[in-house]
Amino acid sequence: MLGISKNWVKVLNKYNENPYGTKKDKRIDDWHKIISSLPKLESTKIDLKKEVLISGSWNDQERKKAKELLLELIPWRKGPFVIGDIFIDAEWRSNLKWERFLELHIDLSGKTILDVGSGNGYYGFRMLGQGAESVICLEPNLSHLTQFIAINHIVQSKQIRMIPERIEELIVTDKCFDLIFSMGVLYHQRKPEEHLKLLSSHLKEEGSIILETLIAPEEYGEVLIPEGNYTNMRNVWFVHTKTGLEKLAKNVNLNISAISSPCQTTTEEQRTTSWMPFKSLSDALNTDSGLTIEGLPRPERVFLVLNKKNF
Ligand SMILES: C[S@@+](CC[C@H](N)C(=O)[O-])C[C@H]1O[C@@H](n2cnc3c(N)ncnc32)[C@H](O)[C@@H]1O
Repeated sequence: MLGISKNWVKVLNKYNENPYGTKKDKRIDDWHKIISSLPKLESTKIDLKKEVLISGSWNDQERKKAKELLLELIPWRKGPFVIGDIFIDAEWRSNLKWERFLELHIDLSGKTILDVGSGNGYYGFRMLGQGAESVICLEPNLSHLTQFIAINHIVQSKQIRMIPERIEELIVTDKCFDLIFSMGVLYHQRKPEEHLKLLSSHLKEEGSIILETLIAPEEYGEVLIPEGNYTNMRNVWFVHTKTGLEKLAKNVNLNISAISSPCQTTTEEQRTTSWMPFKSLSDALNTDSGLTIEGLPRPERVFLVLNKKNF
């Protein structure tokens, strides 16, 4: 991988033989079997710019087998992925978030990128589609990692890697990334300020952090702290307001160089599908009140671009 430091190469090498490293999970043996049984696509053409599209020809038997195996990896939260004529219609139409990112007009060409909390790597592949040189994804959830392995088994890109580590577990401290993405991660952190500090600690002096997060209405002051669930999610600790996000950034010596308008998450963007056949956003909303089922404001999200202050 170009652009990454020797220390990072050592970290990645630990996952060359076994992508799960030393992580334990009783499903790992089954996952290895699924991946090694996935048929290869003949005459593959890959387009990661407009969507994650992998064209090629499977015979009927291979196609049936590939679909059955990919369905064994449900729930698919992020997507869609188009592989031959298989359409992985994930819970999230992640292309919509990616289009909102593209509106920020940030050049990814030749960039070395860290994607923290990458999910199954959907956005990492889209980063390659925009010309990124190398993308390292951090994702502790092993079923998301397995989906990434399955997709990259077909894409076969050496420019993207995913390792099952949380950012706070990394032992490298090299400031070698041009861009660091943290999308949908901040509100899941018990110490959001620490999260921003950690992102900054891996960033080149002239680099940028792309933060995408939930935002609460200003009437909450600096932060909305859910007493229990938020939109049916158990692990949302803090939803900052714009004022709160500005304060967080200031406290860790980061400048906000851009902030997008809030965008409400709709049931068009996040919904139950055959590839994610469980509860989704519509089950977490109260249509009469226009609030969440917990009586809180409906989720709205923003993108922020953060830079180091002393640069
Ligand atoms: C809501 S998902 C967002 C996925 C994707 N980035 C997106 O925007 O759609 C948050 C992901 O971050 C991961 N995550 C949470 N805390 C993390 C941490 N401290 N370091 C790395 N990943 C983390 C979770 O496992 C989860 O897959």
